[in-house]
Amino acid sequence: MSVVNDKGGRVPFNDLGRRHQSLAVELERVALRVMRGGWYVLGPEVEAFESEFAAYCGVRGCVGVANGTDALELAMRALGCGPGNEIVMVANAGMYAATACVAVGSTPVFADIDPIAGTPRAESIASLVGPRTRAIVVTHIHGIVVDVSEIRAAMGPADIAIIEDVAQAHGGALGGVRTGGLGDVAAFSFYPTKNLGAAGDGGAVTSNDPEVLEAVRELRQYGWTDRFVATRPGGRNSRLDEIQAGLLRVKLPGLDDGNERRRVIARAYVEAADGRLHFPHESARDYVGHLCVARHPERDRLRGLLEERGIGTAIHYPVPDHLQPALAGIAWRHVGLTETEREAREVFSLPCFPELTDDEVARVCDALGEIL
Ligand SMILES: Cc1ncc(COP(=O)(O)O)c(C=O)c1O
Repeated sequence: MSVVNDKGGRVPFNDLGRRHQSLAVELERVALRVMRGGWYVLGPEVEAFESEFAAYCGVRGCVGVANGTDALELAMRALGCGPGNEIVMVANAGMYAATACVAVGSTPVFADIDPIAGTPRAESIASLVGPRTRAIVVTHIHGIVVDVSEIRAAMGPADIAIIEDVAQAHGGALGGVRTGGLGDVAAFSFYPTKNLGAAGDGGAVTSNDPEVLEAVRELRQYGWTDRFVATRPGGRNSRLDEIQAGLLRVKLPGLDDGNERRRVIARAYVEAADGRLHFPHESARDYVGHLCVARHPERDRLRGLLEERGIGTAIHYPVPDHLQPALAGIAWRHVGLTETEREAREVFSLPCFPELTDDEVARVCDALGEIL
C-alpha cells in the first residue's frame, strides 16, 4: 500500500478521520443497515465478527466485550483470579492490566522490562512467581510480539495461566501462531486508534479453552446462563454492540495491509535516524507497527524540535504503573524497575498510521535527519 495524495501542512501524530474516509462507503452502509435493522447489542454482527476474528487469529473462539480493559478483567475472572491472588505484569504498558487486576481484587506484581525491546523480561517474571501467583499478563507492547513460550519456559512447571494483552498487536505472529493464540487467553481492544479499531469502544477475548470462553461469555452479561438467570458469580455488563462489530468486520480484511504499511513507515524512520535513535522494535521477531516508539536521553528536546517542524509526537507512556497516584493506596509489589523507569524518561512515539502519505513520511524523515 502506498499513499501519495499529500496536501502539505502539519504531520499529525494520528488522524482517524482519514481511516474512516478510506472505507467510508462500506462503513456507513453497515452502520445504517444495523440502525435500520433494529438489533443493536449482541446480535448477528457480533456473532459473525466473533467467528471471523477467531478464524483470523487461528483460535477456537472469540467473545466480544465492551473494551480492552474489560477483556483483561473478564479473562482474569474466567481464570479464577480474585482476592488473595497475585498477577504478574509489566509496569510500562499504560496501567490497563493493573486496572483490571485491581478490579478483580487481585494484587498487581510488576516485573522489569527488557532494556532493548521494552517487553516483559522472562527472568524478571519468573523471579516474581510465588504460591499466590494465578496469572501472568504478557503485553505485546507497541506492536512488538513477545515470545510467550520463552516466558512459559522460564516459569518451569508452575501451573500459571498466561494472558496475552493484544491491544497493540492485532495480526502479529510467531512461529506461524498469531497473537491471541500464543497464551492461554488473550485480551484485545478495538479502541479507535488500534490497528483494528472501531468507531467507539470495543474489545474481545480469544482462547482455545472452551471453559474460559464459556466463562467470559457468561460474565460479559450478568453471569447469565439463560436469559434472566444469573448462574455464574462475578458477572457484569460488558457487551459489544452491533454497529461496532459490523464496522470491525469491514476493517478486518485490511488489517494485514495496514500492518505492512505501518512497518514500512517505521523502517523509513529507522533508516533516517541512522543509528542516532534507539528503536525498541528493531530487535523484535515480529512487529505490527502499532506505535513507532523511539528512545533518546534528550527526548523532550527532540520532541520540541519536531514540534517546531510541524511533526506531531506523543509519549507511550510517561508514568509507569507503580508510580501512578491511583495505585498509591493499593498493595502491590515489584522487583527493581530500573529499566521501566528509564524507559519512561526516554520514549517518544513518531507518527505511524497507514494513511500517512509518502510525502508526510518523507517530511518526518527529513526532520529526523535535521535534528539528530
Ligand atoms: C496495551 C493495552 N492494553 C489494554 C488497553 C485497554 O483497552 P481499552 O482502552 O479498550 O479499554 C489498551 C488501550 O488503550 C492498551 O494499549
